[in-house]
Amino acid sequence: MVSNKITLSLLTFLAIFTYDPITEGIEEDSTLIARSRGMYVISALDGSHAHMLVSIVFINGKYKGSTLETQGSYEQFERRTETAVVGGTGVFRLARGYATYETLHTDSVRGYLVTESNVTILHY
Ligand SMILES: *[C@@H]1O[C@H](CO)[C@@H](O)[C@H](O)[C@H]1NC(C)=O
Repeated sequence: MVSNKITLSLLTFLAIFTYDPITEGIEEDSTLIARSRGMYVISALDGSHAHMLVSIVFINGKYKGSTLETQGSYEQFERRTETAVVGGTGVFRLARGYATYETLHTDSVRGYLVTESNVTILHY
């Protein structure tokens, strides 16, 4: 029982940092447009939910130099999730909206995951 509790509290504080490439398409050689920079933190004692704080940092194309800030809680093992877009910089100043995500492909041997995302925002 005690060791269970220790495992659970460790899970609570697990944080995964990310700098994943964001490309136009799902192919590995698709054009790189941004990087996802931020972290995922386990936010439920049973490990079922995570909290995501991620900046989408545009590094190529017409949005180069601008960012979008995404944030939200989601069920870790669901294929489809959604988070809020709470702001942005550059051309995305005052942005608000939402992002949907769907896991299309997982390769645990390579540690490779493909997620499709649609980001819908209002900005000035
Ligand atoms: C993104 O939008 C396309 C076109 O509407 C849709 O087919 C796809 O399911 C959407 N994916 C996500 C993760 O929202």
